Amino acid sequence: MNNKRVGIIGAGPSGLAQLRAFEALKNKGIDTPEIVCFEKQSNWGGMWNYSWRTGVGKFGEPVHGSMYKYLWSNGPKECLEFSDYSFDEHFKKPISSYPPRPVLFDYIQGRIEKSNAREYIRFNTTARWVDFDNTTEKFRLILDDLKNDETYTEEFDYLIVASGHFSTPNMPHFDGIEDFPGHIMHAHDFRGADQFKNQKLLLIGSSYSAEDIGVQCYKHGAESVTLSYRSNPIGVEWPEGIKEVPLVTHFDGSTAHFSNGETEDFDAVVMCTGYKHKFPFLPGKLRLKTKNNLYPDNLYKGVFFNDNPQLIYLGMQDQYYTFNMFDTQAWVSRDFIMGDYQMPSKEERRKDIDQWLARYDQVEDGLGDVDFQSAYIKDLIRLSDYPEFNVDKVGAMFKEWLKDKEENILTYRDKTYKSVVTGTQAVEHHTEWMDELDDSKERYLKFNERVEELTT
Ligand SMILES: Cc1cc2nc3c(=O)[nH]c(=O)nc-3n(C[C@H](O)[C@H](O)[C@H](O)COP(=O)(O)OP(=O)(O)OC[C@H]3O[C@@H](n4cnc5c(N)ncnc54)[C@H](O)[C@@H]3O)c2cc1C
Ligand SMILES: NC(=O)c1ccc[n+]([C@@H]2O[C@H](COP(=O)([O-])OP(=O)(O)OC[C@H]3O[C@@H](n4cnc5c(N)ncnc54)[C@H](OP(=O)(O)O)[C@@H]3O)[C@@H](O)[C@H]2O)c1
Repeated sequence: MNNKRVGIIGAGPSGLAQLRAFEALKNKGIDTPEIVCFEKQSNWGGMWNYSWRTGVGKFGEPVHGSMYKYLWSNGPKECLEFSDYSFDEHFKKPISSYPPRPVLFDYIQGRIEKSNAREYIRFNTTARWVDFDNTTEKFRLILDDLKNDETYTEEFDYLIVASGHFSTPNMPHFDGIEDFPGHIMHAHDFRGADQFKNQKLLLIGSSYSAEDIGVQCYKHGAESVTLSYRSNPIGVEWPEGIKEVPLVTHFDGSTAHFSNGETEDFDAVVMCTGYKHKFPFLPGKLRLKTKNNLYPDNLYKGVFFNDNPQLIYLGMQDQYYTFNMFDTQAWVSRDFIMGDYQMPSKEERRKDIDQWLARYDQVEDGLGDVDFQSAYIKDLIRLSDYPEFNVDKVGAMFKEWLKDKEENILTYRDKTYKSVVTGTQAVEHHTEWMDELDDSKERYLKFNERVEELTT
């Protein structure tokens, strides 16, 4: 009888991957530890569990979600496919490469609904505080049952932090912004492009949120979209109506001044300035302190907290790979907890982390990023029995995707890719992405006659 206890904070794709990893063992008849997953929302799915709310939720907790209506996958689904649960198995027919949010949410749920994972999750429960007792070598979690308004404590031998890192806005200040008369928000609070119809919109930032919210607003009828970058522009060929300028220096009423001397009037500002890794439930000595990058320091194999490997972080990297990366991390973490993976000494772990950091230092561009994260995934796959998938082919798809976006930012989502899990070639969506204003699952799955049902 395995009498260890494992606590998981968060039932998003990372936390669910951990539950799935243990379930895979259980299905083989292997005795696993007791697992309890705490999720502050009323359902699983993390970011993919869309909420119309901004600010605080029903129980006064900060709203986790940063996703919005009309959010479509920004990378090919073939790059994130679970290697033990394919899109074909879930949808029973080929679908396009860039599904909208509800379709991906459905896919994530499909795998986990086949198990009894819900039994392990305490919903509406916030992890409020954690400490570690050096004598008992156990974590003590203080938890808030939000529905019943009760606080209680539990102990665990291992703690998995799967609370995500795209939820707490990084909100810079610009001189004069306090007198800007229009709407100012962070991308975290953006819920739909409709409200910016016929408006002149300024987006600050030059990464995924700026690119995607900019294009969404253009698609849904904004009068103009201006993207303001700090380090580098996104640099694609923008259609008329979207442009990039250097960083805002200050605001004067509704006028933004940019560092190249240009000025322009705006109706609204959206800060697409990224997120902070924030763990309000962890004391400083257990807290991961990092910026958003592909190899956060102090995490051995990208997951084990080097000062105390009983503390495991999932999904803390910046993400090219997503669901399949969380899986590979969860499988390795599970094997360590089960005693099947021998942890090297702290010094050896430090050396390994330093080697990865040195390698990351050499990375120069997006293509290098892809190679780096592919190498990381391969390293993890080597350590566990997560069903292998062709990482080199997925890496090549990511590179194609980068090229597609550069070629045409408005049409890249119309391209199709081939699954490395099943070999299935995706089909074209029945409507070109720029003309598709409905992101519902029902409309998405209405295929036209070009699509044949899979017989398998
Ligand atoms: C706007 C946006 C769009 C994205 N689009 C894509 C995309 O198209 N494709 C893609 O692959 N990825 C996308 N991502 C990346 C996304 O982060 C991952 O797909 C995935 O959701 C990460 O999973 P996670 O479980 O690590 O974190 P999350 O999905 O953030 O889940 C973390 C969970 O932890 C819970 N939690 C947090 N704190 C506590 C606490 N104290 N107590 C209890 N529970 C807690 C939260 O409620 C949440 O359910 C996007 C991210 C954003 C922000
Ligand atoms: N449809 C989709 O699937 C979709 C849509 C949106 C987001 N996402 C996901 O969401 C995640 C987060 O993306 P993100 O774009 O929000 O964050 P991000 O990738 O971390 O980028 C943050 C951006 O903010 C800029 N920035 C930070 N501080 C700034 C400041 N003080 N002044 C000006 N600019 C500043 C950064 O510029 P520097 O380069 O100068 O640092 C960078 O361009 C990604 O995983 C992405 O895939 C997905």
